[in-house]
Amino acid sequence: MIREATAADQSAVTALWEVCGLTRPWNDPVADFTRALGFDGSTVFVVEVDGLIVASAMTGYDGHRGWVYYLAVAPEHRQQGLARQLLTACEVWLAALGCPKVELMVRDGNPDAAVYEKLGWEAQPVRVFARCIAKRDA
Ligand SMILES: CC(C)(COP(=O)(O)OP(=O)(O)OC[C@H]1O[C@@H](n2cnc3c(N)ncnc32)[C@H](O)[C@@H]1OP(=O)(O)O)[C@@H](O)C(=O)NCCC(=O)NCCS
Repeated sequence: MIREATAADQSAVTALWEVCGLTRPWNDPVADFTRALGFDGSTVFVVEVDGLIVASAMTGYDGHRGWVYYLAVAPEHRQQGLARQLLTACEVWLAALGCPKVELMVRDGNPDAAVYEKLGWEAQPVRVFARCIAKRDA
């Protein structure tokens, strides 16, 4: 069953992200989850099987593009179409907000990136630049 996550799912979802190798020391997964649920333009979808969360995808619309983050399927539930279903759920959710295009970022060296081409996503000729602003002095 796919549904939108609630605050009560936080520990299960962030544990799934750890198991799936998606966390990094410089990102706080609990803060990422909490912000996504607390903002109108974003949400987290989860797949629940027998009461356990086994897959997730975060999505959000910034007014120009939609984005997908934290696509994760527990190892024992892979190759059953869950990533496909979650990406479709994200696309439907974004389209309902009027979002025309969805993008995502994949870390260099992630062998699972091939899943996106299988699902019809096209690699783009861009580089991503980032800058932390959260703790910037006024
Ligand atoms: C990548 C991941 C989300 C795929 O989840 P999944 O539920 O197994 O994917 P699906 O079953 O929906 O597969 C959809 C299609 O992609 C293919 N596929 C799945 N994983 C793949 C992989 N690692 N490499 C190539 N193709 C893959 C499937 O065979 C299927 O193809 P088909 O429709 O021709 O049969 C999962 O392996 C995972 O959680 N990996 C670790 C976290 C990660 O890297 N996430 C992406 C971060 S950007």
